[in-house]
Amino acid sequence: MTPFAQWMKTVQADMEHALAAYLPSVTETPARLHEAMHYATLDGGKRVRPLLVFAAGELFGAAPQALARAAAAVEMIHAYSLVHDDMPCMDDDALRRGKPTVHVKYDEATALLVGDALQAQAFLVLSEGEGDAGRQLAMVRLLARASGSVGMCGGQAIDLASVGIALSQPELEQMHRLKTGALLRAAVMLGAWCGKALADDETAALDRYAAAIGLAFQVVDDILDATADSAALGKTAGKDAADNKPTYVSILGLDASQVLAEKLRGDAHRAVEQFGNQAQRLRELADLIVQRKA
Ligand code: IPE
Ligand code: IPE
Ligand code: MG
Ligand code: MG
Ligand code: MG
Repeated sequence: MTPFAQWMKTVQADMEHALAAYLPSVTETPARLHEAMHYATLDGGKRVRPLLVFAAGELFGAAPQALARAAAAVEMIHAYSLVHDDMPCMDDDALRRGKPTVHVKYDEATALLVGDALQAQAFLVLSEGEGDAGRQLAMVRLLARASGSVGMCGGQAIDLASVGIALSQPELEQMHRLKTGALLRAAVMLGAWCGKALADDETAALDRYAAAIGLAFQVVDDILDATADSAALGKTAGKDAADNKPTYVSILGLDASQVLAEKLRGDAHRAVEQFGNQAQRLRELADLIVQRKA
């Protein structure tokens, strides 16, 4: 099997091409909006969601073209969520992926429209896939639910309403599962659905895996905000404490947060035990999510 680092580089490079191909061309009118969409989406980011799409898809024998399409759709939703998350009305951040945020580089109205347009583009791309129409529709619905008010947007609403509030651990977990976990779960499921039909126990196993890595991802994001520097992160460090956001670090402390992330990594590994060696990529991605430094 290809070493993980090499597999990851290949998927990331393929994604760069797929995303560029699935975005409207910068020469198309309105060129400035299209240029800003490219700026927000290309040349940056770890591409964790596309990596999850590919890892889950490869486990179920999916075709690479179908995976690239699904991965591009999820990454566009993610890129849109970052553009809006950084706006003055939300986290008011100036740095993202090592570059000025979209509202700083362009302007606020453009940032709003970049997010709106990326979201629409994600569903356009996903709906244009070849193959069984019923399955396409199920994928569109899955991504819509994960992105909307009972998913990512809902989590962002809770996040914004919780500034300065000492959430209980279950409340914090709920917020994290929605704002970050929902889209990561969608990535895993979309990848799997690009392949062969899943048995119920396979769906349940993937769900347990996705729940573990989904929460772990945001726990680690909270840890890194408190421990890493802006240069390493490519975004402003220390922002959660400065903004009085409830995070795992503020509620559990650093050590307990690290213990929790490690426990979730174990949960993720156990969740996919039934797939044996076939699930190696998913296990490696759980390790990456918990052990990453940015
Ligand atoms: C940051 O996501 C926002 C969260 C959901 C925590 P990533 O850490 O995946 O950001 P990029 O895509 O690598 O920039
Ligand atoms: C954002 O969470 C989650 C999204 C849906 C974008 P954060 O606000 O913690 O993400 P960063 O730290 O700015 O990347
Ligand atoms: Mg935020
Ligand atoms: Mg933020
Ligand atoms: Mg954060």
